[in-house]
Amino acid sequence: MDARFLVTTPIPDPGLPLLEAAGSVTVLPDPPDYSRLRQLCASGDYDVVLTQLRDTVDAALLAEAEIKGVSNFAVGYNNIDVGAATSCGILVGNTPGVLTDATADVAMALILGTARRVVEADRMVREGRFHGWEPELLLGRDVTGAVLGLAGFGRIARAVARRALAFGMQVLFSPRPPGDRSVSQDELGEFSGRVTQVPWEELVARSDFLSLHVPLTEQTHQLVDAEVLGRMKPEAILINTARGPVVDESALVVSLRNGGIAGAGLDVYEDEPHLAPGLAELPNTVLLPHIGSATVPVRAEMSRLSALNAVAMATGQRPPHLVNPEVIG
Ligand code: GLV
Repeated sequence: MDARFLVTTPIPDPGLPLLEAAGSVTVLPDPPDYSRLRQLCASGDYDVVLTQLRDTVDAALLAEAEIKGVSNFAVGYNNIDVGAATSCGILVGNTPGVLTDATADVAMALILGTARRVVEADRMVREGRFHGWEPELLLGRDVTGAVLGLAGFGRIARAVARRALAFGMQVLFSPRPPGDRSVSQDELGEFSGRVTQVPWEELVARSDFLSLHVPLTEQTHQLVDAEVLGRMKPEAILINTARGPVVDESALVVSLRNGGIAGAGLDVYEDEPHLAPGLAELPNTVLLPHIGSATVPVRAEMSRLSALNAVAMATGQRPPHLVNPEVIG
């Protein structure tokens, strides 16, 4: 029998043609809510579901699901209870590697955008409030020479480090906050002698820009809370291109409003697409709608990888990017 795929949201090429070549494809015109998705997964009508980050695939859904796999159109998979999927023998796939540089570019855009007040400046011009060059118009901050603290030191953090070094920033990192693990010279590779590992507490206290690059887990949930914000420099800027719940967003609003820290550049939010009350009114923020991986070539690659994962899951092959390999052993 042909493989049967459920795609919860329309995706760019080439994913759908790849799925269609392997079987029948149902693309939902609108993203399903949780109960609809649960019902569709339990229907027995699909072998593999191609999901988005907004699709919650929890233990209750997985326990009833009559599917072989969940192929997530993202590198992150915090929307899926991977432990529960593994217990149910359901494969989970993701799309690592292809969005590293694009996401690092957005982190860098947020660093530059907050430092140089790009959004405020753009608004001033559009609103007819630009009356000519002025010595003290919209003065910002230097990036060159500033301390960039990287929370995490995975693929994306390293790509940000590469960019930041080229901008003359001093790069510190803490590989697994709030805990620690030592990164060997070997692992540092090209960064050896160019970046410095420090404990999380020191990273928080020393960073002019603190940029988050950790997965969302129980350990990193609200990693940046009121207490951490209180230990940051008043002139510090928080950058988040990772996951919203890594930051206590209400505490961030209070800190930004009271001058606890100077600014924030965010691509992700605690309860997307909703923002914490007050966040959108703050001028010292640059707010993006979760577009870290949003370039034409990157989204095409994510489409391709998620489709290849899905086809492999449906046809009993090993998916190229499997999050829970223990299911196949
Ligand atoms: C985007 O946030 C992703 O995890 O791919």
